Amino acid sequence: MQVHKHDAIIIGAGGAGLMAALYASKGGADVAVVSKLYPTRSHTGAAQGGIGAALGNLDEDRPIYHTYDTVKGGDYLTDQAAAKILAENAVDAVIELEHMGLPFDRTSEKRISQRRFGGHTRNFGEELVRRACHAADRTGHMILQTLYQQCIKNEVKFFDEFQVVDMIVVGGTVAGVVAIELGTGEFHIFHGKASFFASGGWGRCWSVTSNAHSLTGDGAAIALRRGVPLQDMEFFQFHPTGIYRMGILITEGVRGEGGVLINSQGERFMERYAPSAKDLASRDVVSRAIYLETRAGRSIKNRGYVHLDVRPQTVNRYFAEEGRDRKDFIDEGTVERKLPDILDFCRTYLGVDPVKEPMPVQPTAHYAMGGIPTNVDAEVVIDADGAVMPGAYAAGETACVSVHGANRLGTNSLVDLVVFGRRGGMKVAEYVKGADWTPLPADAGGEIEAEYERIRGGSGKSRPGELRALMQQTMMDNVGVFRTEETLQKGIDDLAELRERFRTDLQIDDKSRVFNTDVMEAWELGCLLDLADVTARTAYERKESRGAHSREDFKKRDDENWMAHSLIYQTGEMSDPSYEAHFDKKVDLSLWEEEIEQGIPEDQQKFRPIERVY
Ligand code: FUM
Repeated sequence: MQVHKHDAIIIGAGGAGLMAALYASKGGADVAVVSKLYPTRSHTGAAQGGIGAALGNLDEDRPIYHTYDTVKGGDYLTDQAAAKILAENAVDAVIELEHMGLPFDRTSEKRISQRRFGGHTRNFGEELVRRACHAADRTGHMILQTLYQQCIKNEVKFFDEFQVVDMIVVGGTVAGVVAIELGTGEFHIFHGKASFFASGGWGRCWSVTSNAHSLTGDGAAIALRRGVPLQDMEFFQFHPTGIYRMGILITEGVRGEGGVLINSQGERFMERYAPSAKDLASRDVVSRAIYLETRAGRSIKNRGYVHLDVRPQTVNRYFAEEGRDRKDFIDEGTVERKLPDILDFCRTYLGVDPVKEPMPVQPTAHYAMGGIPTNVDAEVVIDADGAVMPGAYAAGETACVSVHGANRLGTNSLVDLVVFGRRGGMKVAEYVKGADWTPLPADAGGEIEAEYERIRGGSGKSRPGELRALMQQTMMDNVGVFRTEETLQKGIDDLAELRERFRTDLQIDDKSRVFNTDVMEAWELGCLLDLADVTARTAYERKESRGAHSREDFKKRDDENWMAHSLIYQTGEMSDPSYEAHFDKKVDLSLWEEEIEQGIPEDQQKFRPIERVY
């Protein structure tokens, strides 16, 4: 196998990977980015509505309010010190992106424009605040382009269309990764002092998802197989507004600009579920509300979707009822200018014109709150006490810092990837200066090559596409927005059967090596099956409702017994793994503890867990 040697190997070229690459290279490291896609096709490009930062350009705002919203939005599973770092660093990060050339929209005073997003408030929940800095509804796309240009300028080396399939661990230290060059099918070793996973999420475990086809959780699955536990896997967010049946994201920015959700009775039903935040309640609350409306027979045509209405006449009617200033009122031009991509999606995929008709939407699997556990410097940690795995780093959706706790606020994914990508990049630069090279083992890459050949040789009866569709359906039906012991058990049983078929009965038609998507999709399916399984298992074991994990048989949040992160480990044979989940990693409640130490009375403590909205 060809061996490439670089100080730092970054796996994935989305926002977190590019930010890490940029900062590691600025710190003097020789950096290679290995990505299964061309960098500008990474999924960060699909983030639409904005990046949250308390700039206070339109409303009074402070990072501590952003911290508060992040902790509360995460239903108190958020690590509080990490949330503070996120909110404080967000301000610099956005200004830095602006200085790199990111074309943010502007206010009339030429400041960066900001819009409302769910759960983002001023003065500890007093009222919604305009915090999401945006470039129309293409904010992620602009971040990706901007960071890629910076990396090129900084001479970061890119290996595009190289898919990482294994991590090389020698005596507990990571010595690099193994990748397949998609164009040739050849295996390559990337020998590095630091390996940094920024490989994105795994929304493709579900049938309706906003995630691109490439979001198959490769990095998290590889880490799990090589001894890293995964944290908080039971928490997976459903974004309330995906295009009906297709799942394509319709940004929360639509509701930020005044759009409302309407049921078959013509009611703005969020007034019932969240009387003050209404349509901009946090995503878990809105997604549950849509399901409850459906159960009550009030979805449109009884088909499980509702309408998202951003027609100016509708928006302005509600603005008038709320006593909003007339200068906030919108017209068709505002919608065209501020939300061009979602108009385009709806016109292209649905033949629906959102300035004239409401959009059919349903909750769509969107974001993994859990993932590879890290500390706030993106170092991978492997136990409840925070022991670091030398040479291993992670950031972005594949990682769990944990700043999102049990439910992420909109816009915080983009903040997470720039803030912790940057911190991680700096840490890597420092680490590689002092670290020795870990020699590669003689058989590096051998095990994964054998697994590739096993898959390629598959002559059973189960096509990867069939197994994937069955997995996605059982995840949607049984491990979705609402869960019970019975549905989760059904999910676990179905997945066991699918895993067995994956192991023993795979059918691969394309036996070639060149651009063999048949084999690669099968390998990705293996990752998805592993991640689906650990999601279902941790969800089964967590007997409470918290954030995006809504157990109908345990409706209350139970801080006494369950205020802890889960860590799930792979045990047993590589070819036939089993799993062990622990719920003993402490949640960092340091901001609340400071309030207690300062003698602040209980009813004035901002970071004390308060009741959950069902
Ligand atoms: O609704 C959106 O624009 C999505 C943003 C996010 O997930 O943060």
